[in-house]
Amino acid sequence: MKLLSYTIISAFLLISCSGDSENDLQDVPSGTDNNPVSEVKLTFEKDISALIEGRCSKCHGTTPRFGAPASAVFVTFDQVNANADKMFARMSNGTMPPSSEGPLSASFVTTFEQWINDGKLEK
Ligand code: HEC
Repeated sequence: MKLLSYTIISAFLLISCSGDSENDLQDVPSGTDNNPVSEVKLTFEKDISALIEGRCSKCHGTTPRFGAPASAVFVTFDQVNANADKMFARMSNGTMPPSSEGPLSASFVTTFEQWINDGKLEK
């Protein structure tokens, strides 16, 4: 008699357990390959031009000012494209813009780096 009730209890446990695991399977979130953020590449026109204009053009505009070298004009895509590594080096070591202008935000620097890594696209 005892053995019979154990068997019945075990059978119930087995059924309820298998029921649970079916629910668990259904609760697993679907699709982890769905990450659009990393697939959108940054472009000069959409993401970079306005940043550079806001923090660099005061001195590195079409007419260089405040002691910026005549060769250091960073306005057009071709100019920024050609000087990107040099610009990134000075941004990330904190020597540009000059300290009197206040530091760049971390997102400014990572956005510029991401644009380089994405292949320095114009648009
Ligand atoms: C307030 C004026 C000013 C601002 C704003 C400024 N710069 Fe400069 N930049 C200078 C001056 C002056 C020099 C020359 C002295 C030196 O190299 O430190 C220079 C030099 C440079 C050089 C070296 C150019 C070369 O050919 O040797 C780079 C690269 C540069 N800046 C990048 C930037 C970037 C990128 C920004 C914006 C994030 C920026 N600068 C913002 C004044 C400025």
